[in-house]
Amino acid sequence: MGLFTQKPSPPPPRADAPRPAPPEASAVPAPPVRPSAGVPGKPPPPAKAGPPPAAVKAKPDKLVDERTTRMNELKSEIHRKLVDQLDLTKLSRDATEEVREQVRQIILALCEEADALLNYAERQRLAQEILDETFGLGPLETLLADPGISDILINGPHQVYVEKNGRLILSDVKFKDNAHLLHVIDKIVSPLGRRCDEVCPMVDARLKDGSRVNAIIPPLAIDGPSMSIRRFGADPITWDDYIRFKSTAPEIVEFLKACVHAGLNILIVGGTGSGKTTLLNNLSSFIPDDERIVTIEDAAELQLRQPHVVRLETRPANIEGKGRITIRDLLINALRMRPDRIVVGECRGGETLDMLQAMNTGHEGSMTTIHANSTRDAVQRVETMVMMSGFELPTKAIRQQFASAINLIVQAARLTGGPRKIVSVTEVQGMEGDVVTMQDLFKFEQDGVNANGRAFGRIVSTGVRPSFVDRLLASGAVLDPQWFVARDLVIDD
Ligand SMILES: Nc1ncnc2c1ncn2[C@@H]1O[C@H](COP(=O)(O)OP(=O)(O)OP(=O)(O)O)[C@@H](O)[C@H]1O
Ligand SMILES: [Mg+2]
Repeated sequence: MGLFTQKPSPPPPRADAPRPAPPEASAVPAPPVRPSAGVPGKPPPPAKAGPPPAAVKAKPDKLVDERTTRMNELKSEIHRKLVDQLDLTKLSRDATEEVREQVRQIILALCEEADALLNYAERQRLAQEILDETFGLGPLETLLADPGISDILINGPHQVYVEKNGRLILSDVKFKDNAHLLHVIDKIVSPLGRRCDEVCPMVDARLKDGSRVNAIIPPLAIDGPSMSIRRFGADPITWDDYIRFKSTAPEIVEFLKACVHAGLNILIVGGTGSGKTTLLNNLSSFIPDDERIVTIEDAAELQLRQPHVVRLETRPANIEGKGRITIRDLLINALRMRPDRIVVGECRGGETLDMLQAMNTGHEGSMTTIHANSTRDAVQRVETMVMMSGFELPTKAIRQQFASAINLIVQAARLTGGPRKIVSVTEVQGMEGDVVTMQDLFKFEQDGVNANGRAFGRIVSTGVRPSFVDRLLASGAVLDPQWFVARDLVIDD
């Protein structure tokens, strides 16, 4: 067949054989127990502690279990034979359709040989699962192929949740055991020169499509290897999507565009998974093409399309615990790179002080995100993070830095039932005594939760005219006076 190396016999050990799971990783969650059926007309018996007797298990389930076990055995057997025949280390996700097809035919022949009683659908399914295992990330492949899935959350081999359309649901995808899941984690991290094992049980990585991956394994993850994948789809969310999803109003998009153009410093705030990075990406898209942008991130997620962008990414410590490069290190370095704008993916610690200082010293139009649940909370979070910088600054001094550095705070939120929205756009006005003064310009007012459990409400203009309007006009922006007239902009019911 020429495309891959045929192995001599006797075959060497499997190149991709799953590593044995560490002893503490071998705990597999108990299979779900079906409740015993109640007698018609009678109330169900009170729940008793302990599993129901095995005899109450229905027969069809037993047949399904036996079939699943048989299919899993066959899969392992055929996979083993395939390893004996081919050098699988030469096959990767980038393999051409032609190569995949050749391997599929070999697998189908092996299926036939292993169990002549398999029907057509079973053979095709086995072949696909083995192909996914051989070329890709095994059971994850079906989830990765679904563009509607935004998060994949794996809690041990038998529990895989996905977020789809804003809702978290348990998928029917399962890994065989801990060793299988560890093997897939290894397949993701080892090409990046990273490892995930007892010595390094926590790792950040990325998939080829940019999806962000975090894996944490025993002994740190008590119930087995755990992996969280934030999809970074081929179709990132654009401003058109924001408007289509009623995540914001067209007027707000126009306003934000004028703010970015004029070089306002913008802070994005929101909780975990609220849409901060997506917002940062879209706001950054408004930066004019003739400016030099330096982006700094832990895992490069931003997708800026401007021609003049320098992308910097942090580096974790090596195996000896050395060589770590933090956001703060990169930020200090970026200041020497003559940037017009600095975009920092997320401020989590002492780098917040450096960011405020950069914004205060001529790098206008810079942007970052922080994890905070409200605009007010953001000030407090910044105070805490600045204290992590090692400089002992009085609270008032930090607030002054904040008030003079940040012009606008945009808050993202994931609301009840899943919709993500820009829930407030707030001007930072200055200080009054010890307090940072702010004024909402636009906000989402939730009116309730509908029958499907989704929050509904209105996106409104508060009627406040920001004090930086002159600055927007001076930068050439064309403003619509209607933006600053109190009214409903979008009704989302
Ligand atoms: N307005 C939106 N409408 C629908 N989906 C959205 C919207 N904004 C973001 N998302 C989706 O929500 C998920 C989380 O978005 P994002 O990564 O931007 O959040 P985040 O706040 O940066 O998360 P984290 O705290 O984990 O860094 C992504 O899958 C993204 O595509
Ligand atoms: Mg993010």
